[in-house]
Amino acid sequence: MRHFLSTLDYSRAELQQILDDAKTLKKHPQSSALAGKSIALLFFNPSLRTRTTFELGAHQLGMKAIVLEPGKSAWPIEFDDGAVMTGEPEEHVREVARVLSRYVDAIAVRAFPKFVDWNEDRKDKVIAAFARFATVPVINMETITHPCQELALLLALQERLGPTDGKKFVLTWTYHPKPLNTAVANSGLIIAAKFGFDVTLLCPTKDYLLDERYMSAASTLCKNQGRILTISHDIESAYRGADVVYAKSWGALPFFGRWPEEKPIRDAHQHFIVDEKKMDLTPHGLFSHCLPVRRGVKVTDGVLDSPRSLAIDEAENRLHVQKALLKTLLS
Ligand code: CP
Repeated sequence: MRHFLSTLDYSRAELQQILDDAKTLKKHPQSSALAGKSIALLFFNPSLRTRTTFELGAHQLGMKAIVLEPGKSAWPIEFDDGAVMTGEPEEHVREVARVLSRYVDAIAVRAFPKFVDWNEDRKDKVIAAFARFATVPVINMETITHPCQELALLLALQERLGPTDGKKFVLTWTYHPKPLNTAVANSGLIIAAKFGFDVTLLCPTKDYLLDERYMSAASTLCKNQGRILTISHDIESAYRGADVVYAKSWGALPFFGRWPEEKPIRDAHQHFIVDEKKMDLTPHGLFSHCLPVRRGVKVTDGVLDSPRSLAIDEAENRLHVQKALLKTLLS
């Protein structure tokens, strides 16, 4: 039995196998490959794409998907070992994971950080506990990384670019009125490095560098393939010659839990918006974003609606890659 918590746990060849299967499933969506199997989808946070594509994808493979929202439609859950449970939670993850494992063939979890203390959030305690106690595969539907989004992005890039080795991938920070999760940024960095891009991380200041775990993994992945990881705070040189511009906003890790102190820095960098002038520095560059996206804040309508934009293709590909992933884990 194998979990799918991070693409760092999978080789490039294994991920390519999932992508190749996804290409086939995209052409032939209906399959009875997993008929009679089931999956529990645990959402601690909202979703449009992830919930729709996992429910629909399971259906198209002959599976049953059950959506549970702990703290809303399901009992609130305790995660601390040894807790004396006098607070809100009615049951412990030790029971939840083991009970669900008796019912279903896989458990998928979305659990965002609490945004108070990054040293706590980076432990990814919720999904780690499910992985520890479940006796069926556990799938990450976004915690502090978003590996399913990574596969969807890579499929969209391979569809438009063909081979990705040696091409330039720019992960650009963009403004957002709120300090958002670093999950998709961590994931963008990892998957681009894993698939042989020269990777540039463009962000306003060093405060916006990503967690050392992902910076260092991306650096090693690049180095092992003869590629380069570049950190830049200069918009023009970062965009120049890019084959891909991938946009995401995130809160600065050194300010975790002290967001009013971070806000003036974030507010001073609204010009990081992806617009036509910047994209013109990349004559053939493609744009993408994981969605949801705020128009006129992170990206202009002109870029998002242009033929350069892969955002809708990437969103569609969530369906195909997750079906291929379910087949890999459950067949
Ligand atoms: N990209 C993504 O995960 O979308 P949702 O938050 O709508 O699921």
